[in-house]
Amino acid sequence: MTNERAKFGSRFGLILATAGSAVGLGNIWRFPYMAGNNGGAAFILVYIGCVLLLGIPCMISEFIIGREGASNTARAYTKLSNGTAWKYIGFMGVLTGFLIIGYYAVVAGWCLQYIFASAAGELQGDPKYVAGYFSEFSASPVKPVLWTVAILVITHLVVIRGVRGGIEKASKMFMPTLFVLLLGLVVASCNLPGSGAGVEFLLKPDFSKVDSGVFLGALGQAFYSLSIGMGCICTYASYFSRRTNLLNTAVHISLVDTMVAVLAGLMIFPSAFSVGIAPDSGPSLIFMTLPNVFQQAFTHLPLVGYIVSIVFYVLLSLAALTSLISLHEVCTAFFLEEFRISRLRGATFVTVIACVVGALCSLSLGHTDLQLTIFGKSVFDALDFVTGQILLPFGGFLTCLFLGWYVPKKIVKDQFTNRGTLRGALFGVYLFCVRFVCPICIMLIFLNQFGVI
Ligand code: TRP
Repeated sequence: MTNERAKFGSRFGLILATAGSAVGLGNIWRFPYMAGNNGGAAFILVYIGCVLLLGIPCMISEFIIGREGASNTARAYTKLSNGTAWKYIGFMGVLTGFLIIGYYAVVAGWCLQYIFASAAGELQGDPKYVAGYFSEFSASPVKPVLWTVAILVITHLVVIRGVRGGIEKASKMFMPTLFVLLLGLVVASCNLPGSGAGVEFLLKPDFSKVDSGVFLGALGQAFYSLSIGMGCICTYASYFSRRTNLLNTAVHISLVDTMVAVLAGLMIFPSAFSVGIAPDSGPSLIFMTLPNVFQQAFTHLPLVGYIVSIVFYVLLSLAALTSLISLHEVCTAFFLEEFRISRLRGATFVTVIACVVGALCSLSLGHTDLQLTIFGKSVFDALDFVTGQILLPFGGFLTCLFLGWYVPKKIVKDQFTNRGTLRGALFGVYLFCVRFVCPICIMLIFLNQFGVI
């Protein structure tokens, strides 16, 4: 069984695919805002500390479970848990995958619509008009649902081609494209008059702003940005070769992810500052604020403004798409192996469920007669909240306890050192992090999110 299992074809492809999962909307719409408002370079240093302390150890833990289990997330945890209740962490991951896909695909669908809207020149107008355009579009009953289905169908078409021919190939195409587009936008943005103030806002270190709240915010962001906590990394790791150096790979992926986040800041702030618009975060940043920024920043070069706007939404769509692919694969691998059906069938099943969840999310934002709310929140907000604030940290927390305290140390060490072929000098540090540092940090993120501390 292990031998016939699909594998990534190259180390480069494997890193791009996993980085594709990590690089997503979180890098572009949340990180720059957090960095700018919380001490610039000081925040970035704290963030890097969080990645080292929490992100990399958690990522390696998922790598170990995935590669050792050599199957989908649910079964990988089941195999290592010898029938004890720990196995439910894996099932929880698959369920979380379905829930995240729902709202993530809706936002990705909006990005697709905005590619066409900016190409058609529909986003031209005063700030009020642009804000109104988004409110009206996102609340309408048909168009956003169709775009959600469209992006899920694209995801489906990649996933059905398998690990090497679909996911790896697509990542090798999309990720370098994303990088080039991002660099192009950074150059365009940093060359605007008055852009220096934006660079300064993002990078000027101000350690006085870093308090415990900022530290915990950085921890949470590191966790979310690296796609930890639901078995995504674990599923991809089941396609790693036995020779892949796990520590090294985790470092590379974190590096790419952090670099994209910082570059996103260098794309957003210089242009926003050059026209004097204060950037915010979340959907309102990318669908309401930035269209205005692009329009005003390039008034003298309308063609450049036009191109920048299209390129920006292509970039966002690519970032969201590679994350969606990884989410889809978690669920597809589950159906494929647990129900012994073909990849095509498994993927179709996942796509159909994802379309239903996505449509419910999208419709919950509209003014339909359907009361699509859970605990007083729209389905969209509820899924965002339940996954991001509860299920992901909880999954990560349990994974650390499971690997640090339950799984035999010999298995962990064998995986970490590739059966003794690597020196594994940092194994002790890693184990200490997984046993103590990570669970404590995640507890703190939790308590912080719920306002306890
Ligand atoms: N890392 C993604 C981002 O930065 C979001 C994310 C969190 C995610 N968990 C995930 C993506 C699991 C795919 C799979 O936007």
